[in-house]
Amino acid sequence: MALQVELIPTGEIIRVVHPHRPCKLALGSDGVRVTMESGLTARDRVGVQDFVLLENFTSEAAFIENLRRRFRENLIYTYIGPVLVSINPYRDLQIYSRQHMERYRGVSFYEVPPHLFAVADTVYRALRTERRDQAVMISGESGAGKTEATKRLLQFYAETCPAPERGGAVRDRLLQSNPVLEAFGNAKTLRNDNSSRFGKYMDVQFDFKGAPVGGHILSYLLEKSRVVHQNHGERNFHVFYQLLEGGEEETLRRLGLERNPQSYLYLVKGQCAKVSSINDKSDWKIVRKALTVIDFTEDEVEDLLSIVASVLHLGNIHFAADEESNAQVTTENQLKYLTRLLSVEGSTLREALTHRKIIAKGEELLSPLNLEQAAYARDALAKAVYSRTFSWLVGKINRSLASKDVDSPSWRSTTVLGLLDIYGFEVFQHNSFEQFCINYCNEKLQQLFIELTLKSEQEEYEAEGIAWEPVLYFNNKVICDLVEEKFKGIISILDEECLRPGEATDLTFLEKLEDTVKHHPHFLTHKLADQRTRKSLGREEFRLLHYAGEVTYSVTGFLDKNNDLLFRNLKETMCSSKNPIMSQCFNRSELSDKKRPETVATQFKMSLLQLVEILQSKEPAYIRCIKPNDAKQPGRFDEVLIRHQVKYLGLMENLRVRRAGFAYRRKYEAFLQRYKSLCPETWPSWAGRPQDGVTMLVRHLGYKPEEYKMGRTKIFIRFPKTLFATEDALELRRQSLATKIQAAWRGFHWRQKFLLAKQSAICIQSWWRGILGRRKAAKRKWAAQTIRQLVQGFILRHAPRCPENAFFLDHVRTSFLLSLRRQLPRNVLDTSWPTPPPALREASDLLRELCVKNMVWKYCRSISPEWMQQLQQKAVASEIFKGKKDNYPQSVPRLFISTRLGADEISPRVLQALGSEPIQYAVPVVKYDRKGYKPRARQLLLTPNAVVIVEDAKVKQRIEYANLTGISVSSLSDSLFVLHVQREDSKQKGDVVLQSDHMIETLTKTALSADRVNNININQGSITFAGGPGRDGTIDFTPGSELLITKAKNGHLAVVAPRLNSR
Ligand SMILES: Nc1ncnc2c1ncn2[C@@H]1O[C@H](COP(=O)(O)OP(=O)(O)OP(=O)(O)O)[C@@H](O)[C@H]1O
Ligand SMILES: [Mg+2]
Repeated sequence: MALQVELIPTGEIIRVVHPHRPCKLALGSDGVRVTMESGLTARDRVGVQDFVLLENFTSEAAFIENLRRRFRENLIYTYIGPVLVSINPYRDLQIYSRQHMERYRGVSFYEVPPHLFAVADTVYRALRTERRDQAVMISGESGAGKTEATKRLLQFYAETCPAPERGGAVRDRLLQSNPVLEAFGNAKTLRNDNSSRFGKYMDVQFDFKGAPVGGHILSYLLEKSRVVHQNHGERNFHVFYQLLEGGEEETLRRLGLERNPQSYLYLVKGQCAKVSSINDKSDWKIVRKALTVIDFTEDEVEDLLSIVASVLHLGNIHFAADEESNAQVTTENQLKYLTRLLSVEGSTLREALTHRKIIAKGEELLSPLNLEQAAYARDALAKAVYSRTFSWLVGKINRSLASKDVDSPSWRSTTVLGLLDIYGFEVFQHNSFEQFCINYCNEKLQQLFIELTLKSEQEEYEAEGIAWEPVLYFNNKVICDLVEEKFKGIISILDEECLRPGEATDLTFLEKLEDTVKHHPHFLTHKLADQRTRKSLGREEFRLLHYAGEVTYSVTGFLDKNNDLLFRNLKETMCSSKNPIMSQCFNRSELSDKKRPETVATQFKMSLLQLVEILQSKEPAYIRCIKPNDAKQPGRFDEVLIRHQVKYLGLMENLRVRRAGFAYRRKYEAFLQRYKSLCPETWPSWAGRPQDGVTMLVRHLGYKPEEYKMGRTKIFIRFPKTLFATEDALELRRQSLATKIQAAWRGFHWRQKFLLAKQSAICIQSWWRGILGRRKAAKRKWAAQTIRQLVQGFILRHAPRCPENAFFLDHVRTSFLLSLRRQLPRNVLDTSWPTPPPALREASDLLRELCVKNMVWKYCRSISPEWMQQLQQKAVASEIFKGKKDNYPQSVPRLFISTRLGADEISPRVLQALGSEPIQYAVPVVKYDRKGYKPRARQLLLTPNAVVIVEDAKVKQRIEYANLTGISVSSLSDSLFVLHVQREDSKQKGDVVLQSDHMIETLTKTALSADRVNNININQGSITFAGGPGRDGTIDFTPGSELLITKAKNGHLAVVAPRLNSR
């Protein structure tokens, strides 16, 4: 797809011409964070990340507006070229984590959103690759975040730099020197709860591998007046409160201190010993630990604390005037503690506090002090003791940070990174000597800044072969000269006034100033001012027109502060101190030195010159800190305050210098790399020289000749709008490229996935097929072997068991047994049984028997009592009749039933006659008379005791079982039977001839009831029976075709019965 970008003259709007689809600009919130100002909408919201890209770069309002937009979005960092502007957010933004450090490591400065770590990393990389010393200068007003930035930088280096081969403790010492210096040099002020009351320049040494191996600190102008006096709402240095709050009981007792800070006059001047934002107790713990890390011995800590305590005791020394108005010490207790803590003679100290030693004509004279002078001397001593101890502390830290490995080859090639955390420009209601020094310092640094920036700009233009265009800027050298020039400068005049004999006062100093520099355009006093300005100036004031703005200084105290006088006898006393720290701080050589010590201003000037020299020898980087409001509140953007700071930080000046020629410059490689996608010739890669690629690119983008210049290695773009147009085009291009890349990636990703799946499937398939094949082959092999064995066995089946036929024989046996399991007879009547192989015949028989027994047993267990009875009766019937009686087989399938007559079929009278005797069985029968053999219907009843023959309602005959001697039947198929009765029984009528349709059943039951099973006679031919007393009858049975019962001519009963079974 060909993307055409049209640059519209305003430079702000981009039209993308696409034949089918209009492109829209869309940015996610994340996109905004990462690319920030790359898109138009994002720019509207969060401003530009580099002030040089501001269209209206001369407008302070536009500058402030850009700051405001970014601050609103918590974007506290913005560049002016390589300078980082930082606004104190007064809240933890979580932007200093390890991840953030990693994100900014090794990336190009301009490719990522502005950040302190970007500066830190760029500086570090320059240090390593170019092996040039670097200096990061951090400035800003009190509370703007300088110290915080210094700490973050140190933390960045401590965490991201490689550890040195030896002496890894340096990193800890570098970090731990901070809490100690802050305890002794920081204090709560109205502007900042942790305000640094000294300037600090810290060098970190790196070896050739980039590991920190040592460090060195320079401190500037500690605000020692704070030791004896604090403004309302401010505190003395933190260490006093920390010691009182966090010190152990034992320590305090030793130092003669009370916990309550209210007890010490030096701590109550500001009336705010307790501050909610400060935790002195925990801070003290940190300081104590840090002291150990930076090599303090227990003795040294003790000596140091003795000095801190002695300052507090000094503050509580009171004087009273004697008759001659001479001051006398009234607080003996304090004096006692002081003597002990400072290890000095008590009397000497007492004398030194109340007298002044004057040397006149080689003679020493002691002149007593009045109350005011004594208080002055005491405070001077306190300040001197504290400030010198602070300097000693810095020295001590330096010894601890000093690289121990100076002889190693790596040390010889060390490079240095300096961090300057120095007080920013200060303007108060009343400005005194301190503000004068501080503002002079800032004036100096600004000069250095302008010089170095301009220099580097010029150098760059030269190197790139681009004509230098003169830059209009304010050179503040004139102000620096006003302050520091020899003989004519303010400091020289002040020193002169301090040194000259006679009555020199602050006002004489002012007069002298007026005389000497009255024509200077940046100097003004009440006397020199015109009518209108005069009103705003006091008679004891002078005004300097600094680069950052006007400041009016009151000369009151200038001479004193510059002299910083400590009476000789106090010095002597301190020189005699046995406290090792004090004896290092106060040196006897100081006493013998006839030359007057340098004044404070001169010392400061010298140290500044030294600092400037140090900084000049290094590659500078700048961090300009801004404080958003005076209330220390997050989210509040106080425009007046910020405008003021923008002004006195010289940011507009800075921007003007930077934007003098071109708003933007970038190496050809970087520019081409970023924007190559906007031109078909350079996309996706350019084979020629990067410069030619860029030429091609800008031609394609339609840059006008006045909009850019091509340097030797860089392209210079004059207006931000040109860059923005290109950026916006890139943003749109990225959208479409991203879609393409996404599509290609998705295609690639899924294809890879598919190929992998396919490959895996093939792999699994072949593997599985292999398994199946191997299994099949194994099975076949086994089958062939088995068949071979079987065939061999079969051939030898009749041979005795041998290895060749063993398998076959076993197989036959097993097969038989297994098949037997399936072919077992299903019930007792099933007689089938598989034919066993010869070797298993015996076993087969045994098994068969077992099987039958088992079936029988099972059957028996399963039959009911009724059925049991039936079977028993059937068995008895079988026993009696089987094979003997012709019609027996017909009876077998018919079940015997319990009775053939119901109770209702038997006459009640019969039942009555039987009384309690139960009827066990009843059946209709035919009775044949004994004489005529007439058939008569009768009922036969069986009771437990007798057979009863009943005719209708009458018991015709009762045969007790005891009298029943036997039963006779024929072997034929008839159903006649004879009950034989005891002949001797006179009561009986004789034997009874009966016929029953259920003869087998009736006789079986009768035989069982009467226990006459063995008394049933089955006769062939005829049966004789007793027909009555002395009279026998005969029944003849003959086989015939059908049943015929008649009385024969011979008087016998002739029965013809069909033969049913041939026997
Ligand atoms: N980047 C930051 N993120 C969060 N809070 C900050 C940041 N910078 C500063 N602060 C807050 O502002 C306070 C003041 O900052 P800091 O002590 O660094 O100021 P300073 O410029 O060193 O002032 P002074 O000149 O008085 O020493 C800090 O204690 C901290 O609470
Ligand atoms: Mg600070």
